[in-house]
Amino acid sequence: MTDCQGDGEGTMSPMELFEKLNAQGEKVRSLKSAKAEKAEIDAAVQLLLKLKVDYKQMTGQDYKAGCPPSENLIVSNNGPAADDCDGEDLVDPWNVSASSTKGVDYDKLIVRFGSSKIDKELLERIEKVSGQRAHHFLRRGIFFSHRDMHQILDAYEKHKSFYLYTGRGPSSEAMHVGHLIPFIFTKWLQDVFDIPLVIQMTDDEKYLWKDLTLEECHRFTVENAKDIIACGFDTLVLTLLNVVKVQKHVTFNQVKGIFGFTDSDCIGKISFPAIQAAPSFSSSFPQIFGGKKDVPCLIPCAIDQDPYFRMTRDVAPRIGLLKPALLHSTFFPALQGAQTKMSASDPNSSIFLTDTPKQIKNKVNKHAFSGGKDTVEEHRKYGGNTEVDVSFLYLTFFLEDDEKLEKIKEDYTSGALLTGELKKILIETLQPMIAQHQERRKQVTDEMVQQFMTPRPLNFKF
Ligand code: TRP
Repeated sequence: MTDCQGDGEGTMSPMELFEKLNAQGEKVRSLKSAKAEKAEIDAAVQLLLKLKVDYKQMTGQDYKAGCPPSENLIVSNNGPAADDCDGEDLVDPWNVSASSTKGVDYDKLIVRFGSSKIDKELLERIEKVSGQRAHHFLRRGIFFSHRDMHQILDAYEKHKSFYLYTGRGPSSEAMHVGHLIPFIFTKWLQDVFDIPLVIQMTDDEKYLWKDLTLEECHRFTVENAKDIIACGFDTLVLTLLNVVKVQKHVTFNQVKGIFGFTDSDCIGKISFPAIQAAPSFSSSFPQIFGGKKDVPCLIPCAIDQDPYFRMTRDVAPRIGLLKPALLHSTFFPALQGAQTKMSASDPNSSIFLTDTPKQIKNKVNKHAFSGGKDTVEEHRKYGGNTEVDVSFLYLTFFLEDDEKLEKIKEDYTSGALLTGELKKILIETLQPMIAQHQERRKQVTDEMVQQFMTPRPLNFKF
């Protein structure tokens, strides 16, 4: 997932932003009373929510209609943007904020985004077609939503192959364990289906959205690429083909509706979605697919990236290309709990891939939000709550053994297992995992990164 940071309203003053919010609130109300189309209302609500988050970030205050910003501005960059607009969560590529303390309501998100739930039937089909037990991210609902996955499997059953596409927009040198989720899963898909993969490193993306120099973005890209290569991949591709095709067929009005861009956003941001869209089409990679236009694409990603691919799927038939299919994951929780955001600038909000065994131990012990009771006596009597316990949640991501996990759940819920003991299990799961990652990363040289990023044919025949 992304670092969940707002892209800010740049040069606007708090008062200007306040006025803009008033106007947007007005717009939402008039659309609703005019019974406008749902998609149009949704887009207006999303922009309203985004502006509220920006406002809170800029002023440290919650937006209230009729209460202009006060003089004493507190600039806060963290703190959850507790937002409540029709009780909806805000999820877009730049902001993730839940209206409830329980975190994002993923079932609602499926309805709002119009995607489909990964149900038991699809799970069984994936197992049947791949001949492998489903990955624990699928079994445990970490990848929970999809678009057109049945079509990918239909084609695969008829011996028509597909390819995988995922990506990363590097915003700092430091990657944390949550960033690995899509890559671990993609690696599994590549192994079980034996298909090619492209990984897009958008070294231009964070330059457009954050206060970074191009040189920094490039350096982060090389460093992040090493972590990704250390996951066991052998393809990273930068692509420019098909970008202008998408740009020619998507209007400013459409991206405004999908992404909430405004007239004062730079043209770099407005045209960026075309760059993220392009690798969804096999014709973008003549070296791999020999110019074939009809190799289907499957994109595993966190659900905040869905707007990019809604746009991509919308434009695809208009440029005579196939719609990509998707598998969506939930968000990886911050150490402090599912409703707070994880930020690369707060070292205590997550476990980084560079952390030492001692740092891992301290962070989990000090910062992992506990669903246990305050005293040992109470805990033994009433038991802990695994639904909000971050150590348990992290184990659902990284402890592969289902039986062990089930036993931990039982014991924690009954009170037999104490918080300190649960944390110890997590620490002992993470320490070797991170140490092995660091070991593999050490083997990756700058030359290897260079080689990975050079477009070249792969060992697949199409
Ligand atoms: N926008 C993504 C990010 O901020 C990077 C990205 C580019 C991506 N292409 C992708 C993510 C395809 C998932 C799938 O990290």
